[in-house]
Amino acid sequence: MEVTGLVFRTADVRRPILAGITFDCPPASVVIIIGPTGAGKSTLLRMIAGLARPTAGTIRFDGSAIENWDPDQLGCYVGYLPQDAELMGGTVAEAIAGFDESATDEDVVRAAVLASAHDMIVSLPRGYETEIGRDGSRLSGGQRQRIGLARAFFGKRRLILLDEPNSNLDYEGEEALCDAIRQAKARGATLLVATHRPRLLTVADLILFLRDGAQVAFGVPSEVMPQSMSRPTSVRRVRPAAQGGARP
Ligand SMILES: Nc1ncnc2c1ncn2[C@@H]1O[C@H](COP(=O)(O)OP(=O)(O)OP(=O)(O)O)[C@@H](O)[C@H]1O
Ligand SMILES: [Mg+2]
Repeated sequence: MEVTGLVFRTADVRRPILAGITFDCPPASVVIIIGPTGAGKSTLLRMIAGLARPTAGTIRFDGSAIENWDPDQLGCYVGYLPQDAELMGGTVAEAIAGFDESATDEDVVRAAVLASAHDMIVSLPRGYETEIGRDGSRLSGGQRQRIGLARAFFGKRRLILLDEPNSNLDYEGEEALCDAIRQAKARGATLLVATHRPRLLTVADLILFLRDGAQVAFGVPSEVMPQSMSRPTSVRRVRPAAQGGARP
């Protein structure tokens, strides 16, 4: 996926919401998007998901501009978890498989397992057949997020866009998400993930750093890592274990 000179303006906002974003995601890579609130992370992901049109610039998948792709085909290849994972009505299984009529139960369960949602789903009153309230209101924020993740990972998604996928996840959920990202990458998917939390930086191949709609940096973590996010949070320096067995 390649993004070139992407600009997004609205009539009512003086400065552009995105101002000339240019980067590319090599196949089977994990690109983490960071930056303060209002930086434009969600706007960028929405555009790549095809839900908003840029004012200028291009987005290409496999060399072909997004507007030349058949939307149905894109729907099969691109998985998108929005920041406020809204789930429409229907059952949990339907929420995961979307409108894919060829989806088998096995496909649905596989995506749920990958998103670490399976155990939670089978503990619901009717498991995968549980009806979700129109606004997903019968589920907690974390449950909605896990089902939204299963939907984003469903099928043979080649590009997976996740907007703050760990904002409602507990420690275990975050660890499972990192595993799911690694597994999706191992089968060749490219992932683009916006996050405020440092945990996901550990799975990053590349980091895109935005601020006020501008691209501050794009590159490998060791080059891009801004001071604020590289401060040790859970990582402490540990003395290497003594060589040659335990001391008395
Ligand atoms: N359609 C729109 N019309 C007007 N302003 C918009 C529109 N979409 C986004 N914005 C503005 O663009 C800016 C970037 O918003 P965006 O949601 O992309 O930020 P973000 O980096 O995802 O922030 P957060 O970390 O809080 O999720 C904000 O100032 C927002 O108010
Ligand atoms: Mg956002």
